[in-house]
Amino acid sequence: MEGTKAAEEEEEQVVNPWEVSAKDGGKIDYDKLIDKFGCQRLDQTLIDRVQRLTSRPPHVFLRRGVFFAHRDLNEVLDAYERGDKFYLYTGRGPSSEALHLGHLVPFMFTKYLQDAFKVPLVIQLTDDEKCMWKNISVEESQRLARENAKDIIACGFDISRTFIFSDFDYVGGAFYKNMVKVGKCVTYNKVVGIFGFTGEDHIGKVSFPPVQAVPSFPSSFPHLFSGKDDLRCLIPCAIDQDPYFRMTRDVAPRIGYHKPALIESLFFPALQGETGKMSASDPNSAIYVTDSGKDIKNKINKYAFSGGQDSIENHRKYGANLEVDIPIKYLGFFLEDDAELEYIRTEYGAGRMLTGEVKKRLIEVLTELVERHRRARAAVTDEPFFCLRRRLPTLLNVFSTPGPLLPRENPFGFALASTS
Ligand code: TRP
Repeated sequence: MEGTKAAEEEEEQVVNPWEVSAKDGGKIDYDKLIDKFGCQRLDQTLIDRVQRLTSRPPHVFLRRGVFFAHRDLNEVLDAYERGDKFYLYTGRGPSSEALHLGHLVPFMFTKYLQDAFKVPLVIQLTDDEKCMWKNISVEESQRLARENAKDIIACGFDISRTFIFSDFDYVGGAFYKNMVKVGKCVTYNKVVGIFGFTGEDHIGKVSFPPVQAVPSFPSSFPHLFSGKDDLRCLIPCAIDQDPYFRMTRDVAPRIGYHKPALIESLFFPALQGETGKMSASDPNSAIYVTDSGKDIKNKINKYAFSGGQDSIENHRKYGANLEVDIPIKYLGFFLEDDAELEYIRTEYGAGRMLTGEVKKRLIEVLTELVERHRRARAAVTDEPFFCLRRRLPTLLNVFSTPGPLLPRENPFGFALASTS
């Protein structure tokens, strides 16, 4: 990317799977991104339709526009309405030991989709991707994948319908055949066009995109979807992953598969303000699921960018600028009560509420969320096995109502310790 980066940065925002930066340090222009990528805006009609089909209120992330763009979501819902189910596919590149709140967003949303539609889910841990892009050893990437898997499981997926795998462990067989089929349809010029690779990038990177593409095809998982080659796939992800799936959708019909549908989110803003994704190299730019209550309090009070005025007098007079206020943005993600959020926005915007009060409420909300996550993660143990290469359960009918799960049937390869 290095070659193209400098030129682009002068006039343009840069959004690709490895870099997110706004124009001139401003905000990401999501409308422009939708145009450039060619995806569609997720409008109210579609949200209403999801509500109708699932008979439950739409998730906060849908109501508040966190998931704001899509590709062919309508088609998946059409099929669902006709009685054809689909499966969900999401993933994570294990680049760090601990996840931050932004990392949880797609998984929290995927859990809601799985519960609401009662569908199977595959989760890809691209340990190979991070090993190649982040200068991490194979072994270290695998270790991170394992640690991250526990955080992902802690999000509460229906484990009888979920398959989580690391690329280093799982790639082979039917999955690899699909990778080769995809690879044969994508020229070098094409990947350069989509991803901006240069002559200096090693060929590991150039040949990676098929790995992230093929979980979109049910035949990559014969132990889950044998005989269900027609099953549609829906991918919840942050919009920086769109290039991978643009490529996938381009290739799919040529090799006889459905194009995967996508539902795409905004980026979760850094504490310092909304200029891009959070930086892994600056621990003070994000709240981590490993942060203590005290850490959370300190970080919010010290670093969360405030849209409040510089003196109480001015604040009372002019009110807060909600457009740039990070506590308000974070509450928009994680405070579920619509009425309370509206109240805070009104009072704070009018200067009747002070930044300190808003931050206090945010600290409560986040502390509770992180505590809940910590408890759930502690209940996941990797004691007996984490071996994704062992014979996996044949989930003969992943759509049927699950019975009680025996430890050896656990498709994660993890034992879930009893929490009671
Ligand atoms: N490349 C993604 C990352 O770096 C991981 C990933 C793999 C993914 N497959 C996915 C993310 C599907 C969303 C959907 O985090």
